[in-house]
Amino acid sequence: MFQKEINILDDPAAMAAYLTGRFGERMAAGKEEASLRIALSGGSTPGRIFRELVQPPGPAPFWRRVRFYQADERCVPPGHPDSNYAMIRSHLPGELQIPEAHFFRMKGEEEPEAEAERYGQLLAETLPMEEGWPVFDAVLLGLGDDGHTASLFPGDDRPPREGEYCTTAVHPLSGQRRLTLTLPVIKHDRQVILLVLGREKARIVFEVLCHPENYDYPAARVKPVRGALTWLLDREAASLLPPGAPFTC
Ligand code: 6PG
Repeated sequence: MFQKEINILDDPAAMAAYLTGRFGERMAAGKEEASLRIALSGGSTPGRIFRELVQPPGPAPFWRRVRFYQADERCVPPGHPDSNYAMIRSHLPGELQIPEAHFFRMKGEEEPEAEAERYGQLLAETLPMEEGWPVFDAVLLGLGDDGHTASLFPGDDRPPREGEYCTTAVHPLSGQRRLTLTLPVIKHDRQVILLVLGREKARIVFEVLCHPENYDYPAARVKPVRGALTWLLDREAASLLPPGAPFTC
């Protein structure tokens, strides 16, 4: 069983404050030089939150000690408008003073299978391992309209091979090739945080949280092995949840 919670917050600024508080606690509990290893998703939601990280009282100093990885990437060059890496770099404010060496990007421009292998090796070399899986301190995920998360799409439930930490995928509508962390890597993370904004996501939030049995929602398969699962929703995204809904309504 895993610890799970739903937090309904006012806006992206409140979500940024929540993340700063949560990660700040972890960093304060560690040694001075401690770091956090966090995997970031793409899409539009994270950027709307990251840019709020410099809100008063200003950026927390610990951000420059965080190591940023990717949860998924589109198979495009880093300068392409679809690149998640480009979105992450453009929305993490310079005031956070994050050193270049703290970014571990998925190389969307490389041959997908070879890059999935390379990135998987990078995870094994730079992260702690538990039960044969690399473990992030946190992974920040989004939620697609079809219940996908990272680039784990409905119907794509091929179990990963032993030691397959990163794999390739194909977006079911656009056919765009993707790179993504595999589900066991996400499930072994210490903290899984789903970030969802906007009324257009209210229906899929309700479905995934209250009726996961209705469809093969990859986001509903994210059940941490021993970490914690947190949903950060704004009021619009949470608007169809029954009042006081428990985690599974
Ligand atoms: C991607 C993301 C994807 C995203 C969801 C939500 O590469 O597109 O990783 O999983 O998180 O599709 O996207 P929005 O934040 O744009 O709604």
